Amino acid sequence: MTATPINVVILAAGKGTRMYSDLPKVLHPLGGRPLLSHVIETASQLAPARLVVVYGFGGSMVPQAINDARVTWAEQAEQKGTGHAVMQAQPYLSSDAPVTLVLLGDVPLVQLETCRAVVQQAARGNVALLTVDKADPKGYGRIVRAFDGHVSAIVEEKDATDEQRDIREVNTGIMALPTAKLAQWLGQLKSDNAQGEYYLTDVMALAVADDVKVLTGQAQHEFEALGINSKTDLAQAERIYQGLVADALMKKGVTLADPARLDVRGTLSCGRDVRIDVGCVFEGQVSLGDNVSIGPYCVIRNANIAADVQVQAYSHIDGAEVGKDGRIGPFARLRPGAVLAEKAHVGNFVEIKNSAVGVGSKINHLSYIGDSTVGRDVNIGAGTITCNYDGVNKHRTVIGDGAFIGSDTQLVAPVEVGAGATIGAGSTITKHAPAGELTLSRGRQITIAGWKRPEKKK
Ligand code: UD1
Ligand code: CA
Repeated sequence: MTATPINVVILAAGKGTRMYSDLPKVLHPLGGRPLLSHVIETASQLAPARLVVVYGFGGSMVPQAINDARVTWAEQAEQKGTGHAVMQAQPYLSSDAPVTLVLLGDVPLVQLETCRAVVQQAARGNVALLTVDKADPKGYGRIVRAFDGHVSAIVEEKDATDEQRDIREVNTGIMALPTAKLAQWLGQLKSDNAQGEYYLTDVMALAVADDVKVLTGQAQHEFEALGINSKTDLAQAERIYQGLVADALMKKGVTLADPARLDVRGTLSCGRDVRIDVGCVFEGQVSLGDNVSIGPYCVIRNANIAADVQVQAYSHIDGAEVGKDGRIGPFARLRPGAVLAEKAHVGNFVEIKNSAVGVGSKINHLSYIGDSTVGRDVNIGAGTITCNYDGVNKHRTVIGDGAFIGSDTQLVAPVEVGAGATIGAGSTITKHAPAGELTLSRGRQITIAGWKRPEKKK
């Protein structure tokens, strides 16, 4: 919570020419979410009176993709610069909020505490500017200071003199300004510069002329100022973001075989004593219970994995639930709607879709189980296939508790195998297999005595 009520404006109308993409820049994903979503998330935590996002390139694509009720959208039909962008937000700002914080949709890693500090600095009618010293300031606006050390202007790279280009202190684009003054200054902006744009950065010189102090604060981490202009920047930001996620997990006690080889594209929540081996990707909402271990190179998306489960190497889990003490993989595939009860085992090259598997049941090798209900303590032999699809409709297979399905069985759905039934290996089951009985469909084995194999003539 900030004491002073604030407006937040996020600039997100630009095309992102240097991304060479049809997707508006701010929709490119970082950690599985659009760049802009990261900034909106941070801004929301400041509890602003108004949260205005300026959109433009790509039209309604950006508001539709973000679809966030906390946001007031302001359209900038033509992108005439960052100052022009803020002008479009102007009508939506609350005049009861004395401070307006400007954030950039392509600067996604700015931290909440940093935003708070910038707002704080502006609380007494000053302009507050977040700057950072960069070893390579190329592409950023340079902070020009007067002899007394105060900021006198920001000069964009394209408008800078050679001398100004040597300045290492750059504009992060993040600033807080007095709301009423901002409106005045925006009205005074001109576009007589190298890019023919209305620069928000020109407000600094106007503030100084108005006897308003421009105070600066430095970001704690250089990465907070990283502006995403190219795919190279995006990849760099992704590594930084993943590093932060890995650190946060380790701080809570998760064991990572290598924090540099983990990718979380969504939210991963972990219980105690969770271990994650190298090369795993987590997408959407994933929860891992206490004492879960994930082997190397697993992809896990929108899944709940209960305590004491072992997921072994190269398993792919999507939209599934795994019950306590289960064993999955290596090379297992759980698809949406797979719900495994406690102590279920799913082994290599087994695919399960839209099926419930009961307590302690085992499907250990080379099988496809789709649209099925499998009871408890069922053993499904290698190479079992539920034939659930007739080309038009999907049909269910129901297997009762304690059933034993011999290897290489096809269960042609709709079909039911009763509790305790046994199916002989190699069967094609098309009709109800009664409980407790042995059912098989198989040509009888015969031997032709004295049969001779043909021989090649020499
Ligand atoms: C801007 C700053 C520069 C700063 C840098 C930090 C200006 C003039 N320059 O430069 O001082 O060092 O950010 O990353 O402010 N946008 C709009 N409408 C527009 C133009 C831009 O909404 O008409 C949005 C973009 O979508 C983007 C942000 O504003 O999210 C910054 O625009 P960009 O063109 O990337 O500015 P930079 O050249 O990086
Ligand atoms: Ca930029």
